[in-house]
Amino acid sequence: MNVVLIGAQWGDEGKGKIIDILSAKADYIVRYQGGNNAGHTVVVNKKEIILHLVPSGILHDNKKCIIGNGVVVDPEALIKEINHLKKHKIKVDENLLISDRVHIIFPYHNLLDSLREEKMKGKIGTTKRGIGPCYSDKVNRCGIRMVDLLNEKLFLEKLKVNVEEKNEFLKKIYGHSGFSYDELAQKYLGYAKTISKFICDTSIILAKAIKKKKYILFEGAQGTLLDIDHGTYPFVTSSNATAGGACTGAGVSPANISKIIGVVKAYTTRVGEGPLPTIFDKDLMDRIQKKGREFGATTGRPRRCGWFDGVVARHSAMINGLTEVALTKLDVLDELDEIKICTAYEYNGRKLKYFPADIDVLSNCKPVYESMPGWLKETTSCKKYADLPVKARRYLERLSMIMDTRISIVSVGSRRRETIIKK
Ligand code: GDP
Ligand code: IMO
Ligand code: MG
Repeated sequence: MNVVLIGAQWGDEGKGKIIDILSAKADYIVRYQGGNNAGHTVVVNKKEIILHLVPSGILHDNKKCIIGNGVVVDPEALIKEINHLKKHKIKVDENLLISDRVHIIFPYHNLLDSLREEKMKGKIGTTKRGIGPCYSDKVNRCGIRMVDLLNEKLFLEKLKVNVEEKNEFLKKIYGHSGFSYDELAQKYLGYAKTISKFICDTSIILAKAIKKKKYILFEGAQGTLLDIDHGTYPFVTSSNATAGGACTGAGVSPANISKIIGVVKAYTTRVGEGPLPTIFDKDLMDRIQKKGREFGATTGRPRRCGWFDGVVARHSAMINGLTEVALTKLDVLDELDEIKICTAYEYNGRKLKYFPADIDVLSNCKPVYESMPGWLKETTSCKKYADLPVKARRYLERLSMIMDTRISIVSVGSRRRETIIKK
């Protein structure tokens, strides 16, 4: 079985938790896009572990964890994460594999990301991890890949060309003194010594696994509305966070994908800039931010929160072809006496049923709400779907109807056991 799991909103839906649950049965867990802009939280035995690059499946013993070709990797961040995991006695050396086609993030990518954010009008609110500039180099065909780290001569040649070009750009555009080629070369050849043992052609490994009918789980990062093509452009990340990204970002055929699970939060959150049509008023924002602990797992920034946006969820179900939904953080709504659901947008007196491409239109859309009574009972202790309050089940059924997709998992807390698998 080959399952793609994606974020159906603006990221931070709880993908890490759901991947961790599903990993128990998987053989391979594969990241296929994004980089250490992601922050996937898993709570194991009351210990919270945040993964940025390594697939969340690493927390289970003997699962092969692959960083696919579509990911961009900052070696310094990767080594830091590996060491952190090892401190928690997690087996990394035995289970991690990195595609030789992965593009590498260099400090000039991080700096360009930060400088652009500081100087640009209408900033995006990036994580400043160098993601956009690294993907730009990839598409511009001047990027440096993991395979280059295995060939010192070629690596140094490519690095030289890149450092010279970036330094000139940094000086002319931002008046910055740039980077020393020698220092970078030394640093990255050092990283190569640590990570070269993980580097291989991971699509061959996946092809063999598919032949042997192994269970492969593809772990999406970010979310559909942050997808470079289908999100709220330009307030997006620089990769395809939607289901299609799993095929190009791991080197597997779409014909081999059996299920697409969308992780959907019971309400909406967004970190970074860009419109959020269903945004809460201040009081509710404070309450939900606190109860849902809505602070970024990567940058610590507060996440803006709002009501469930059905237009976004429908767009997501359509673009990804969701076969099922894992609905998370239902418990965060336990204390609300009224719960709103946005079912359409109104723009210039017209009702929009579909998600608009034009960011100005989206910024001026007014959500059309329907309202449901809250259940006013705690749900975290519910073990089965039938244990959930009737009003909570009604809410879930309404969301499922809006997305035209079955909800197969309901998450009612951050811990593994706080999960309801619907039969
Ligand atoms: P990801 O990026 O999609 O993996 O999500 P994050 O880890 O950035 O954010 C999700 C947060 O919600 C984490 O702190 C999780 O521990 C937490 N979480 C996940 N599922 C639930 C849930 O059902 N209820 C509650 N209260 N917290 C949850
Ligand atoms: P996970 O995988 C939420 C957002 C940033 C910014 C935009 C572009 O944990 O869900 P970037 O650094 O990627 O160029 O920033 O995307 N962003 C995320 N928001 N969750 C994430 O990952 C995110 N990764 C990037 O805040 O708005
Ligand atoms: Mg996150």
